[in-house]
Amino acid sequence: MTSVGVAGAKGRTWEAALSGLWSVPAQPQSCCYRHVWSVTPRATSEGRCRVTPRVLVTYGTTDGGTRHIAEVVAGQLRHDGLTVDVAPALEINDVESYDAVVLGGAVFDSHWHDDARRFARRHAVALQHRPVWLFSAVGSGEPQPAGPVRGALQTMVRLHARAHETFSTDVPSMRAWADTIAHSLPATAPH
Ligand SMILES: Cc1cc2nc3c(=O)[nH]c(=O)nc-3n(C[C@H](O)[C@H](O)[C@H](O)COP(=O)(O)O)c2cc1C
Repeated sequence: MTSVGVAGAKGRTWEAALSGLWSVPAQPQSCCYRHVWSVTPRATSEGRCRVTPRVLVTYGTTDGGTRHIAEVVAGQLRHDGLTVDVAPALEINDVESYDAVVLGGAVFDSHWHDDARRFARRHAVALQHRPVWLFSAVGSGEPQPAGPVRGALQTMVRLHARAHETFSTDVPSMRAWADTIAHSLPATAPH
């Protein structure tokens, strides 16, 4: 019979055995393992666990405008010190490893992009347990909708989203919005 990994754990703690088995990098003594999959823990001089929230910025686009907005938002979040992934909603299979999610969708004929809506439905349970922000991308020449179109509004309600914003080409307003997201995510967690 072939035995694996844990058989060699005799005389070692389970943490040490598992750390070797899965090649989990050793963490500073004062830092917890609790955050190891979702954030980057570092012990601070006060002995607290400094965690960098990991944020997913994802989007549904047809012509690329929404991707551009997502990249501006992601860039600002990174500038504000967060760890950020940015990817089309169609390509995301799992959101469990993220501490917060920003979801954008293009608006066509007053309809929120199907990829954004499907993403929200597919991951509804996980998204309801983490802070979510939504945005809509609209054309600069179009009359600006007063608020979220119906699909975005339904998604807001379903996911208990923190906020929704509408963007076209105003990059400073995208950056300012990303700042409000960054400032609402705690950077340091005690343990
Ligand atoms: C056929 C068509 C319909 C559109 N309908 C709307 C609309 O109802 N409301 C709006 O604000 N913008 C509308 N727009 C503008 C798009 O929302 C805008 O171009 C957006 O940036 C598209 O996103 P995407 O480039 O990520 O696909 C429309 C654009 C097209 C081409």
